[in-house]
Amino acid sequence: MKALLLDAKQRSAHVKNTPNPQPSANELFIRVEAIALNPIDSRYTFHPLASTSRTIGSDFAGVVDALGDDVPPTSGLGPGDRVAGFLQGACSANERPGAFADYLVCPWDLVWKVGVGMRLQEAAAVSLCGLTAAQALFYRMGLEAPFSWPERPARTAGLEEHRPEAAGGLSFFVYGASTSVGLYAAQLVRRSAASSERRSIRLFGTAGQKHFEMLKAEPYSYDGLVDYHDEDWPAKIRGLTDGAGVDYAYDCISEGATVSKTGDTLAPGGKMAIVRSREGGAWTAPDLTVEPMYGAVWEGLGEFVQYQGMDLPASPEARSFAVAFYRWLSGGGRLKPNPLREMPGGLEAIVDEGFRLLGSGTMGDRDAKSEKAWMRPLSAEKMVYGIAAE
Ligand SMILES: NC(=O)c1ccc[n+]([C@@H]2O[C@H](COP(=O)([O-])OP(=O)(O)OC[C@H]3O[C@@H](n4cnc5c(N)ncnc54)[C@H](OP(=O)(O)O)[C@@H]3O)[C@@H](O)[C@H]2O)c1
Repeated sequence: MKALLLDAKQRSAHVKNTPNPQPSANELFIRVEAIALNPIDSRYTFHPLASTSRTIGSDFAGVVDALGDDVPPTSGLGPGDRVAGFLQGACSANERPGAFADYLVCPWDLVWKVGVGMRLQEAAAVSLCGLTAAQALFYRMGLEAPFSWPERPARTAGLEEHRPEAAGGLSFFVYGASTSVGLYAAQLVRRSAASSERRSIRLFGTAGQKHFEMLKAEPYSYDGLVDYHDEDWPAKIRGLTDGAGVDYAYDCISEGATVSKTGDTLAPGGKMAIVRSREGGAWTAPDLTVEPMYGAVWEGLGEFVQYQGMDLPASPEARSFAVAFYRWLSGGGRLKPNPLREMPGGLEAIVDEGFRLLGSGTMGDRDAKSEKAWMRPLSAEKMVYGIAAE
């Protein structure tokens, strides 16, 4: 089969022939039909952690070709079913192949079944960023989830203890509301409120003004938005809460001063999550009063991960959360996929074009200087590629 393989020395990746992966007993053998790009795919190609010849790439959607011997009948999965999920790509030192290939293998319970009305290109855009947002909201910050999971941790320090008035209605702030992660976070906040009988949640965010109309409409339904280009945005967000501050904040950029400024929007006792780790060095915030909650989405795969100088032990709890989230997603319609940028050229075009648009480190180093229509800057969109095995 063809796959996009890391060349660690050249800090690049090339399409090459490589043997088909073999499913183990609990895995599915999947023919990939669409993949979506995430910033980490390009970041860890241009700054490799993995060794040469590792298949890169995370998000995929495809068709089940064969099932391992131990995939239970209760999985409801069979050959021909359309599924989506993500692998770790080349984003760790551990030798596990990624998804940018004609075929891949994946544990049967770490995929979700794509519903009839959803295209595989759309489904490819959901798994990694949807799970990232779900982990931050429900697994880390303890917001009420619209689904349950077996090891659901006891809710630590409920906000009501600090702010009795929060029992009636909560407020949630998303910095970077137009990011892929932010677009899913807003939908999940709305799903949380809908599944709770006791609470309403007021949702505030920052984004460029051109996105306000989309973000105020369903399924995001923001109550208030402030332009992130406005230096004074933390004060304006506080103003939307009559100065009280927000109960939950989620910084979906976590670069430079954004973590510190997001911290400024919090009410006393509020909780905050971020998308990039302190150890990664993309942000500094010496004045924080609340330590932000961070986690890597890879934890959901339940494997030991060596990543950015950190050792993440295998987490059965994070895996069981991911399994429950995927079960909730199965059938489709739960989350609206990000608006798509459908890129031409398949596997061969990903490094030269898709990765150039994503850059190698921060939002600021994205390169969109090109005559080609599909190479304009990414703005509230997810890049997807079609994959067609020969
Ligand atoms: N912790 C994890 O496991 C995990 C998982 C997934 C992603 N991430 C990280 O989360 C970050 C976001 O990823 P993503 O895929 O969601 O991003 P993305 O969709 O590529 O983000 C693009 C959007 O970000 C907006 N933006 C750019 N710079 C901004 C700034 N300084 N302030 C506010 N908005 C800004 C752009 O706004 P305009 O439209 O106005 O240009 C654009 O709409 C990345 O660093 C990614 O690596 C972490």
